[in-house]
Amino acid sequence: MQRTARLKPLAALLLSASLLTGVAHAQLSPAPAASANAPAGTTAEARKANIVIIGTGGTIAGAGAAATNTAAYQSAVVPVDKIIASVPEISKIANVKGEQVFQIGSESFNNERLIKLAKRVSELLKQPDVDGIVITHGTDTIEETAYFLNLTLKSDKPVVVVGSMRPGTALGADGALNLYDAVLVASNPASKGKGTLVVLNDEIQTGRDVTKTNTFKVETFRSPFGPLGYVVEGRTLYFRLPARPHTTQTEFDIDKIDKLPEVAVVYAYGNMNPAAIDAAVKSGAKAIIFDATGNGSVGDYMVEPLKAARAKGVFIVRASRTGSGVVIRNGEQPDDKYDWIVTDDQIAQKARILMALALTKTNDPKALQEIFWKY
Ligand code: DGL
Repeated sequence: MQRTARLKPLAALLLSASLLTGVAHAQLSPAPAASANAPAGTTAEARKANIVIIGTGGTIAGAGAAATNTAAYQSAVVPVDKIIASVPEISKIANVKGEQVFQIGSESFNNERLIKLAKRVSELLKQPDVDGIVITHGTDTIEETAYFLNLTLKSDKPVVVVGSMRPGTALGADGALNLYDAVLVASNPASKGKGTLVVLNDEIQTGRDVTKTNTFKVETFRSPFGPLGYVVEGRTLYFRLPARPHTTQTEFDIDKIDKLPEVAVVYAYGNMNPAAIDAAVKSGAKAIIFDATGNGSVGDYMVEPLKAARAKGVFIVRASRTGSGVVIRNGEQPDDKYDWIVTDDQIAQKARILMALALTKTNDPKALQEIFWKY
């Protein structure tokens, strides 16, 4: 409480200072997009893309008590319009408009908030005067939101989720450049049809694969397969394409989803308590992602509790807590015999998203397995 109270005047000071930079929030109007890989600032005014920047909170909207507070600060306090105003360079590359949808730490995202955000993005993407969307977001769960959007939006227009690891008040703050880069990527026609992207630390990642790997470093976001590209000196440079179906290529449509089934994640460790499985079943989970050791291994004392859960109709999905690699079906466990599913390469928090979406389509375990192998 005390800490929050101390931060507020400082954040307010910062905000009023950034407001003085005076970015005009242009009304969106139809405009041809900038050419692929064009350096920033070289495109004519008439060719600027129209980008909506949706604010949801996180560190990119954070403020600390001192410039040396790079990792201890208050997140989700700066309104999106003020974040935009603090990066006047953005107005040289796009017509931007801010919209505050949430002001939360991303750990507070739940299914309802995820659906609300995705529906709003979907609505905006249908507008002919919107060329792309940037979402400012806390980094804790950016990967879950990006994966959900990647699977459920029905548009080729670029959608870029961006965050920062340091608040705008910190020495070495990374939010301004990340936001500038995100707008650059969203404005670039080369970003069309690549699914939902995540931009931080000069890199463009696919929403499917990216994950946060470090609690405080700016190079925290990684994919086991590397980034799709870089953003450098105002240029968007792609080197790879996403291989798995996304957005317009999937069977999931956010406009038709109003609720997601409950899917629990249970983390495995030595001497784990089987009561976690019972608790998930009792809470009404339709599926359990068992975040197992190694290649989806299941301790001998955990096999029966998982089989019992399956007997009650709860789907069991074996994932790996290693963070990468493929869980082999019928490898460490006889999945055919137990009627279990494997995640392919998806980490538990993304497997939860995919399973919840998959359960809106089918209850057939074979079809559910195919969905994991497909997406
Ligand atoms: N609580 C975190 C969140 O909103 C702040 C961390 C961050 O955004 O980097 O996700």
